[in-house]
Amino acid sequence: MHLKKSLLSLGLALSTSSFIVNAETIQFENKITKDTDTLVVFYHLDKASSDFKKYDKKSQGQLKRSIKANEFSGKYGEMLELTAPHNISANRIVIVGLGEKKALNKAKVAKLGGNLSGKLEQKYIEKITVKSDDISIKSGDFSALLAQGINLRSYRFENYHNEKRSEKSYFFDVDSAKSSKKAYKTLANIEQGVVLARDLISETATEMTPVDFANAAKELESLGVEVKILEPAELKELGMGALEAVGRGSNEGARLVVAHYKGNSDAPIALIGKGITFDSGGYSIKTGASIARMKSDMAGAAAVLGTVKSLALNKVDANVVAVMGMAANMVSESSVAPGDVVRTAEGLTVEIVNTDAEGRLVLSDAMWYARKFYEPSVMVDVATLTGSKIRAVGNDYAAVFSEDDQLVADLTFSGKQVNENLWRLPLGYKDMLKTDIADLKNTGSGGPGATTAASFLQYFAGDVKWAHIDIAGNALSSKAKGEISTGGTGYGVRLLSDWIMNKK
Ligand code: BES
Ligand code: MN
Ligand code: ZN
Repeated sequence: MHLKKSLLSLGLALSTSSFIVNAETIQFENKITKDTDTLVVFYHLDKASSDFKKYDKKSQGQLKRSIKANEFSGKYGEMLELTAPHNISANRIVIVGLGEKKALNKAKVAKLGGNLSGKLEQKYIEKITVKSDDISIKSGDFSALLAQGINLRSYRFENYHNEKRSEKSYFFDVDSAKSSKKAYKTLANIEQGVVLARDLISETATEMTPVDFANAAKELESLGVEVKILEPAELKELGMGALEAVGRGSNEGARLVVAHYKGNSDAPIALIGKGITFDSGGYSIKTGASIARMKSDMAGAAAVLGTVKSLALNKVDANVVAVMGMAANMVSESSVAPGDVVRTAEGLTVEIVNTDAEGRLVLSDAMWYARKFYEPSVMVDVATLTGSKIRAVGNDYAAVFSEDDQLVADLTFSGKQVNENLWRLPLGYKDMLKTDIADLKNTGSGGPGATTAASFLQYFAGDVKWAHIDIAGNALSSKAKGEISTGGTGYGVRLLSDWIMNKK
């Protein structure tokens, strides 16, 4: 496994005037004098910003004329590119619509940054000055969120490209460089968590096995995170027969990876991640094209590990433990056979009627472990769990399941702040999982597949307050849009970080 350099560039230069994070060079300055290729100025709905006016004047009315000719009104997300502006040294001016001032929020600003970065991805654009000093929503936040969106969008997983992407420099011309830098410092740390998750997800299954993933988790020790890796023999000793069974078909076997960030001594928040480094389906083998995307079946584990990284970097006042059930669901002579019965650490026996319903098996033992050894106040699991979830709510939402209305409301609220939206689906089909040979079987029989999977997990939540987030379809993107670039998305890192950082 070869993790890319972005993992190492963490925290670089955070105390100087520029930040170097994964993708672009970002600088905040009070007055920018240097020449750049591109100038970005904003335009409110039907109302010019002062920078727009300034450059319009300089160019003898070219900007105004150009927006008129293009019927540009400044709607949110609208962009107009004017090349070779008269009397201005930059080669182009990009006029960006902000829409109605009142309707602008954090999520929209980050998304706008992403789309701006997407627009400026041409090679010949290297230096960009963003004039963001007369925006009303706390100007520090505004420029920092734009920068985060820009960086997240320009991320690329580059282990296999001969030609590397060239880095662009963004100069933000802001009111107060100090407040922008402060706001960005927090967001850049969250970004590092997202980048970690993306790197882990995008890496191929052969190069990102359970052991590789465990080694990547180990690197968080340098941030003061306590990392534990349970080997197959220890899993056996603890009776974690469900996790062990899923890993049985691969050479390495399963691992349980625990990453504990202890930022205070409250009862911990437990984050549980599904970590299937490849899901072939096992003997209930997957057919069709979807199998080629199954290196991303560890995205839940990547999201919770990325969250721990972002929290540790930000030194957040919280106690958070991530428990990740890692295995490759492969076919071999030693694989679990459909119809096998395994015993979970909880004590419940499970008939594995379908080896492709493996995620709930690894999660059941991981949830038990979190409860038994950490006594969490709340538990949230994140998993690429069911195709049924994609059919129900598509790829623009993740599905959330919980009996706790407040927990659902809080998670949903955080999702809205960061463009990781949740939609609630019901629990309550535990009876569908009855079988004659064991306490439970691992699939229902048709019907609400995402819900039966969630209902299976409910057996392992005990009396702990718990929510399940199904991110199937959210983990890997073939299209770049907003802050999402192609490949692993890191979905969940920003949501969980926001939730934990703003928790009362
Ligand atoms: N990893 C898959 C779910 C998945 C499907 C994630 C598509 C991302 C995209 C999961 O392990 C799975 O195979 N689920 C089965 C369950 C079924 C056998 C009950 C499914 O949803 O088809
Ligand atoms: Mn599966
Ligand atoms: Zn799976």
